[in-house]
Amino acid sequence: MSIKDKKYLTPRFHLFPISGWLNDPNGLCQLDGVHHIFFQYSPDEPKGGEKDWGHFSTKDFINYEFSGVFMKPDMPEDASGVYSGCAYVEDNKMYIYYTGNVKHPGDYDYILEGRESNTILVTSEDGIDASEKRVLLRSEDYPDNLTLHVRDPKVWYQDDYYYMTLGARKKSDEGCVILFKSKDKINWKFSHFIEFEKFGYMWECPDLFYVDGKQFLSVSPQGLEAKEYSFQNIYQAGYFNAKKDLLADGKGLGEFTEWDYGFDFYAPQTYVDEKKRTILIAWMGMPDAEYGHDISIKDGWQHMLSLPRELVYDSNSGKLLQQPIAEIMDLREEKIDIKNIADIDSYELNLSEFGLDDFSIQFNKGFDVQYNKLTNDLVFSFSDEMLGSNRTSRKLKLADGEKIENMKIYVDTCSIEIFINDGLYTFTTKCFKPKDAKNSITIDGSIDNIEAYSLNSFNVVQR
Ligand code: FRU
Repeated sequence: MSIKDKKYLTPRFHLFPISGWLNDPNGLCQLDGVHHIFFQYSPDEPKGGEKDWGHFSTKDFINYEFSGVFMKPDMPEDASGVYSGCAYVEDNKMYIYYTGNVKHPGDYDYILEGRESNTILVTSEDGIDASEKRVLLRSEDYPDNLTLHVRDPKVWYQDDYYYMTLGARKKSDEGCVILFKSKDKINWKFSHFIEFEKFGYMWECPDLFYVDGKQFLSVSPQGLEAKEYSFQNIYQAGYFNAKKDLLADGKGLGEFTEWDYGFDFYAPQTYVDEKKRTILIAWMGMPDAEYGHDISIKDGWQHMLSLPRELVYDSNSGKLLQQPIAEIMDLREEKIDIKNIADIDSYELNLSEFGLDDFSIQFNKGFDVQYNKLTNDLVFSFSDEMLGSNRTSRKLKLADGEKIENMKIYVDTCSIEIFINDGLYTFTTKCFKPKDAKNSITIDGSIDNIEAYSLNSFNVVQR
């Protein structure tokens, strides 16, 4: 189905699969000026199915080429899916490591039996043509105390070694990361576990990275119990600060911080670009979410990627700030008065100089952001079922004495992303505007500085 035949609006400045299903961003890297954004892709099945890798590329984050399927299951070692992985760039080549998922037919539990997780390497110079696949690690190469759930390699080079993290589930039902080392990118030796006190049963998509010389480990844990203000989705995504070098010994995990407080944010991946920025992109979606499938499946597609966010270390809080990368500013068309928002397809809103009292912002007569002074929290809620595609509400508690300083809000036709206090907190959700509806916004309470810009759309060319 082409874009013009769609019944509903499609995203203007978020990457989406056009047809079919998208999940995790994969293989993020920059090679010779070009950013490569691969993703988990089921081209023919908007509710998900066989997992391939799809591929976008861009030089400027505004103009993209979509080249469709990059790789798909075509060998016994990845027969049930070309699962998530990374791209490590060396010698003008992408070394792409991914998990070949295999589920043998039969009466298995697929945790302790019936499954294989193979770590496989391909190389590519352009994200379009791939070399032959080479199996590097098989289930029997992982430590014995693990179940068969081991996946999502992330590879990097540091101090004379290549390192690889993999996410895993122990037989004791504890999530962890396993670290491998290599001298040549091909032969890998298990080094150690990186683990915490029991924190969920499975960790997906691990990513060890540095910002400002500080070490962090991002994981997507499954099996954490929901609390009023935390872990509100079925699965989580967040990062640990490292208290001591995680490469020396895996016991140094410090505090865990959720990346985002919205409904749709999972399996993020980071990469360092040629400008040395650490950029994070997440899947704007949630596996097995209680709200079920989105209305967009009626138009033959489901899920998007988040805006690319630059990570900045905040020495005051010891946390990471997420800020839309500078190129996103190039989407701005003109400064607008929010009174004229009905004439605008998509926009950026910057709010600052908040009073001390309650305030509320209502988008499109069905999505509310409310600040409550008494509880010092923000509540995000959908009162319109169609807009939220069955999403309900989520909450974010500010720290004692902390106040809202600023909010940067990106309103697209199918999503809203909110960056609070320079990106110390973010909130990401899908929000589906009907085709004939106009944008509307109502602000109650004192917010003295309101600035808005109409935004252009991405230009995506299909190869
Ligand atoms: C995360 C995840 C990964 C896996 C991929 C399969 O959403 O479950 O662990 O590799 O999706 O599509």
